[in-house]
Amino acid sequence: MTKFAKLSRIIAAQGAVLLKNESDFLPLQDNENVAVFGRCQFDYYRSGTGSGGSVNVEYATDFINSLKEREKVNVNEEVFCAYKRWVSENPVNKGDGSWASEPWSQEEMRVDEELIKNAATVSSKAIIIIGRTAGEDKDYTAEPGSYYLTDVEQQLITNVCKHFGQVGVVLNVSNIIDMSWENDDIDMIIYAWQGGMEGGNAIVDVIVGDITPCGKLPDTIAHSIDDYPSTKNHGGSKRNLYQEDIYVGYRYFETFAPQKVKYPFGFGLSYTTFEVEIISECKLLSEYHIDIKVTNTGDTYGGREVIQVYSEPPQGYLGKPTCALVGFKKTKYLEPGESEEFELVIPLNLVASYDDSGATRYKSAYVLEQGEYLLHISNSCRYIYDTVRFTIPHCLIVTQLYEALAPTTNFSRIKPLFNADGEVTIAYEKVPVRNVDLVKRIKIRVPNEIEYTGDKGYKLQQVRDGEIVMEEFIAQLSREDLEILVRGEGMSHPDVTPGTASAFGGVTEKLRAFGIPLVCAADGPSGIRMENGSYATQLPIGTLLASTWDTELIERLYVMEGKELKENYIDVLLGPGLNIHRNPLNGRNFEYFSEDPILTGKMAAAVVRGIKRGGANATLKHFACNSQESYRHEIEAIVSERALREIYLRGFEIAIKEGEATSVMTAYNPINGHWCASNYDLNTTILREQWRFKGIVMTDWWARMNYVIDGGPATRTNVASMIKSQNDIYMVVGNYGAETNENNDNLSEALNSGWLALGELQRCAMNICKFVMATRSLERNEQLFSKPQLFEAMEANPQVPPLVDLAIDIREKTEQFYFDQAGVYQVDVTYSSIAKGFAQTTCNILLNNKLMTTIQVGNTKGESVTKKLATVQLVEGAYELKLDYVSGELSINRIAFVPIHD
Ligand code: BGC
Repeated sequence: MTKFAKLSRIIAAQGAVLLKNESDFLPLQDNENVAVFGRCQFDYYRSGTGSGGSVNVEYATDFINSLKEREKVNVNEEVFCAYKRWVSENPVNKGDGSWASEPWSQEEMRVDEELIKNAATVSSKAIIIIGRTAGEDKDYTAEPGSYYLTDVEQQLITNVCKHFGQVGVVLNVSNIIDMSWENDDIDMIIYAWQGGMEGGNAIVDVIVGDITPCGKLPDTIAHSIDDYPSTKNHGGSKRNLYQEDIYVGYRYFETFAPQKVKYPFGFGLSYTTFEVEIISECKLLSEYHIDIKVTNTGDTYGGREVIQVYSEPPQGYLGKPTCALVGFKKTKYLEPGESEEFELVIPLNLVASYDDSGATRYKSAYVLEQGEYLLHISNSCRYIYDTVRFTIPHCLIVTQLYEALAPTTNFSRIKPLFNADGEVTIAYEKVPVRNVDLVKRIKIRVPNEIEYTGDKGYKLQQVRDGEIVMEEFIAQLSREDLEILVRGEGMSHPDVTPGTASAFGGVTEKLRAFGIPLVCAADGPSGIRMENGSYATQLPIGTLLASTWDTELIERLYVMEGKELKENYIDVLLGPGLNIHRNPLNGRNFEYFSEDPILTGKMAAAVVRGIKRGGANATLKHFACNSQESYRHEIEAIVSERALREIYLRGFEIAIKEGEATSVMTAYNPINGHWCASNYDLNTTILREQWRFKGIVMTDWWARMNYVIDGGPATRTNVASMIKSQNDIYMVVGNYGAETNENNDNLSEALNSGWLALGELQRCAMNICKFVMATRSLERNEQLFSKPQLFEAMEANPQVPPLVDLAIDIREKTEQFYFDQAGVYQVDVTYSSIAKGFAQTTCNILLNNKLMTTIQVGNTKGESVTKKLATVQLVEGAYELKLDYVSGELSINRIAFVPIHD
């Protein structure tokens, strides 16, 4: 754990992006006098909010205490004390405790100008910390306190700049924010992002010069939110047209509007300088090889540089961005004067474009159009060290595919139009619509049914050992078994690691008797979410990881994450998240990596490989186009096949091909008419046929599906369409609800009517079994958590009332009772919740101060619900039952002990 936290700290430091550093502001020198403003110096944001931010940590670090501990600089005590007092009197506002109610920012202290003026007589430098958060079910809005600074923050910057000669700003944010407040009096700006539990220490490591900044922006910072091409088509409630097409982020800005960029993609400063030269280059059939030498030309600081390669292709028939990342590599740590040589290999398929219209005469193929291609060796998408060129004499097919997932709605997309002087304007062209007959495509691919054999005594282990084939194993499962197998249960399942998101696979005794283990899945992505209060290591957010541009380091970090998962008996992490940062207002951008699909894919592949090496499995989510949180269950992405292939699906493709990912979670939203969880072209044609994915696909929690062929409205019960599309698992039905079909899904009905073929259900069952047999759950031959937990009684106390009817009506948070019927019991809990939507409310139930179970549920619309939650063994004696509410809006009304007889 210590090593894990240590590496996490190094990464949090190496992902900080220094945008401006004038007048030798950084690094701070010994004994400098510094005043620190902004409440986030104490209230450091470790992460964004929602499932991706809920990691319970043993400790956390903050900026100011970490800075003071070093005793390197003299921190202005008057300012420190003023903030300390104010922060203790104005605690962090977490909203009303319910899901997504935490505000984007915290109230700032209104700093008296006198205090600033006095501070400036003692301290020569001022650092202002600005914090922001957002997250699941909580997009940023283009308002003060969210994307923009508040008046109080703006005033603070103005006053500090007025009195201090040197001013720096540290941004402890989950995402890029508006930066129009920047002025010439500000000497230093650094994006610290959110660095997890070690983030406070990490940013101080950079500020004091223990680590030379080496992060680079994974997103473009434009002058205004309105400059982003997606802004006008983002944030809708029903549908968003992806009119900007492949021109996302810097692909748009560099092609059409370079003047709108404040800080370019890939940009980040160091304390030292580098020189880059090309030693040699050569083009092979499908790759370009470039040998590079990088030298640290500074004389004081060591550091690392990121060499980035951008292609500048000919416009051809298709039209292309004038700049697209095709490769990158970060140097090792170079001492002043030291050099490193390495080879960059650029696969030409990354330079190719997807023709979704047939304009090149090669429809549905990745092509290299005829003309001259430039590869720029750079350290941002703007600053070019050197360029190599090659010519493609005539249009070349790189990969021939077939059409999939094309839109059915007519709309137009942008395209560059260059005149003879090389000036560009935005032109519009019609987006090619679907030509494929989906009915036919699905019908001819329905797999044959495997004949039911009944129980032949085969166990799943025998498939793994090669004694029988998967088909023989699956043939033993009845229709009911198969229906149950595709239903995942959760959250906080009593039979797996407490407080986790799901248990799937062997969800019944009968399935377990076939040797199908119960597999445990937990959020993710930046540490393990265990809602019962157990500790885990909280890592830096995805955007920070991407800012390191260091896939090797990220892989090492996630090897440790894999080990932590394994130690906690968790088989699957619900991460990485790898949706594209289409717009800066997306609340969940923090979990995702970048606006660029190549950087995204390489990072995700590193995470997947790392987790696997550590002993667990990653899940790529949310497949795909989960570009906003508002209306995330309904908002339809209407997007061209080209943009899907080149931008929105590409990261997933790389993570599957280079990371060998075996688990994918579909997104809530529909794409081009079909909800992702029942989208055949997404889950079968592209994912499995074209990319050769061999793993499982699960829905997001309580997802909806519409008809796999005809589309139409979506429901949570159309699981038959989910299966037909080859989304294998429905997440989630309640605990122990798979067997009773608690969700009331339409599987039986669809099989009875013949609409769904048994072969289709068996196909998903085989996907699941192949996956689970490769997890460690198979080796855990006993179910760790389903064994009855033994509880010792307390010291006898004559006042404790006896338990009547083996049940206790809950009136207080603590209840005592005397139990005189020793034995093994099933614990049934009756509760109701009024939490909004599918918000997850949680409560730990402790018996004699030992966790008995964690209850984590969604809204019951106020209705009373009874659930089996644990199995316990009690001896005769006195007991104290305690309810520890982790989040509100849940009432626990009754707890009953139901005897279990053998
Ligand atoms: C989120 C997923 C998460 C799941 C389980 C959903 O609301 O969108 O990313 O993995 O819940 O917590």
